[in-house]
Amino acid sequence: MPKSCEIIFENNKKWVESKIAENPEYFHELAKTQNPDYLYIGCSDSRATAEELMGLKPGEVFVMRNIANVVNTLDMSSTAVIQYAVEHLKVKHIIVCGHYNCGGVKSAMTSEDLGLLNPWLRTIRDVYRLHQRELDSIEDETKRYDRFVELNVQEQCINVVKMACVQERYILEEFPIVHGWVFDLKSGKIIDLKIDFEKILIDIQKIYNLTNSDWVMSRKR
Ligand code: CO
Repeated sequence: MPKSCEIIFENNKKWVESKIAENPEYFHELAKTQNPDYLYIGCSDSRATAEELMGLKPGEVFVMRNIANVVNTLDMSSTAVIQYAVEHLKVKHIIVCGHYNCGGVKSAMTSEDLGLLNPWLRTIRDVYRLHQRELDSIEDETKRYDRFVELNVQEQCINVVKMACVQERYILEEFPIVHGWVFDLKSGKIIDLKIDFEKILIDIQKIYNLTNSDWVMSRKR
């Protein structure tokens, strides 16, 4: 017998009651505004949650999740989320968080026609092509898969940095800083890949520099 949605409404009722018991004004305050410092870009995988694994509460993190935490310039969802988070919410940190055992990354490792998923997975396959020499040199398949997850995070971080709003805001405010993390399902730990954001920004601006406009330069501190 499949689970019904009733349990969710029961859970929700209990959650509302517990929040009000802690603070009678909780929802009144929650409804006022949001002021998150973090944008979290993660995988849709049901095991790789955002708020729960980071121990953050409602209002503390702006979230976008899709298959294999992809940031693609042709995907309006990711570009709109990043633009809004950077320009309006003025987040201080953008986190791209992949996870080991990612089905999306695994699918991109296999040469199989997956229909509508093909164009989505192609962005991830492009990561493989960029790092083919390193990945092909890893004989152990599990290790190669893990490394592919990490390199996908790295490349999606670079895709975030390619965006004009990120480059402009960083020049003006020294924020947001982009981070690449991997969530390890087997240990529950978040691993910081220690992506060198400044170096990526400098490297990438040789090709993708979008901050030479008079407007940005005139406002530079
Ligand atoms: Co995944």
